[in-house]
Amino acid sequence: MAILVTGGAGFIGSHTCVELQQAGYDVVVYDNLCNSSEESLKRVEALTGKAVKFYKGDILDRDRLNEVFEKEDIDSCIHFAGLKAVGESVQKPWEYYENNIAGTLTLVDVMRQHNCKNIIFSSSATVYGDPAEIPITENCPKGQCTNPYGWTKSMLEQILTDIQKADSEWNVVLLRYFNPIGAHPSGTMGENPNGIPNNLMPYITQVAVGKLPELGVFGNDYDTPDGTGVRDYIHVVDLAKGHVKALKKIEDNSGLSIYNLGTGVGYSVLDIVKNFEEANNIKIPYSIKPRRAGDIATCYSDATKAEEELGWTAEYGIKEMCADSWRWQKNNPNGYSK
Ligand code: NAD
Ligand code: UFG
Repeated sequence: MAILVTGGAGFIGSHTCVELQQAGYDVVVYDNLCNSSEESLKRVEALTGKAVKFYKGDILDRDRLNEVFEKEDIDSCIHFAGLKAVGESVQKPWEYYENNIAGTLTLVDVMRQHNCKNIIFSSSATVYGDPAEIPITENCPKGQCTNPYGWTKSMLEQILTDIQKADSEWNVVLLRYFNPIGAHPSGTMGENPNGIPNNLMPYITQVAVGKLPELGVFGNDYDTPDGTGVRDYIHVVDLAKGHVKALKKIEDNSGLSIYNLGTGVGYSVLDIVKNFEEANNIKIPYSIKPRRAGDIATCYSDATKAEEELGWTAEYGIKEMCADSWRWQKNNPNGYSK
């Protein structure tokens, strides 16, 4: 029995492959490499000492997916594959709906034809929109997303929920990630964004390594303690371990379950800059810029449900997240490219 990891060559997927292999699972990765490199899987193999079976393919490609399910004995799927750049999704909504929604519908159809009805889906805190309560529990109503990317997550949650409701043989776990940062503590695996990063931590590490001159802080007039946006940053290794716990849950025929994966602690942009500077002894020059369209003031989780039902809590703190992000960037200034 193996676990199919779609998008397994990506940032969160590759870290999850490490944790899965270390927990004794066989891993089959399916990825079209549109935002990743096969090198990440070589790093997984180097860390775990186990081979990763890799199929290059698109989740929209039914024939290729069928081939994988025919060759491999797949028990469950962890579905990371998707496009995730918020700004790009506003420019290219069709591409985002096609890739993320049509791709997931194709995957799920092939799964059920092969009687594989266990799926863990990468959702996001973005489904809460501007959250009605802080900290955010899973009971917080879903909100209005501010971009097509967010809507794909919200719609896919609904689609998977309806599929499970119609056929109780399905086990569906929706994991709502807060803000994943950090990197494997070995310094050999991490985030590998294309072009200028959109997200805070990769931007900071590229300033630290000298690729970018300074950080722009998007707004200091929010209703937060220092005026900058507050988020729930979570170490990618903790997030990866959450998937292993979710798989155990599925083994008990859990039906539909939804969990926040966060630390429950909010840090502002300036808190992150300060912690990065202290953890790594590097100055990060920054200047205050206007607010970024679509941003909210505050977003952090109540992750009690994951603790109670999955036995999962985040173990790494902000200093480790900052130190590990930097170790990865410093050792691999060009990410996975030579
Ligand atoms: P990533 O881009 O590093 O990984 C996604 C992977 O999916 C990439 O390897 C890409 O090549 C692959 N992919 C994309 N479209 C594909 C397709 N049609 N067929 C096959 N493979 C395809 O992103 P990540 O940060 O590792 O995110 C993983 C998942 O978690 C995504 O679904 C993302 O939306 C979700 N998520 C990420 C964050 C975050 O901040 N990183 C937050 C919440 C949710
Ligand atoms: N920020 C800056 N400067 C930058 C980048 C970000 O000040 O150069 C600020 C933002 O304004 C925000 C905070 O840093 O206050 C975090 O921004 P990110 O772009 O790193 O993350 P977001 O919270 O905007 O969104 C991320 C992912 C989404 C996901 C969401 C919740 O990009 O896909 O976390 O999981 F939905």
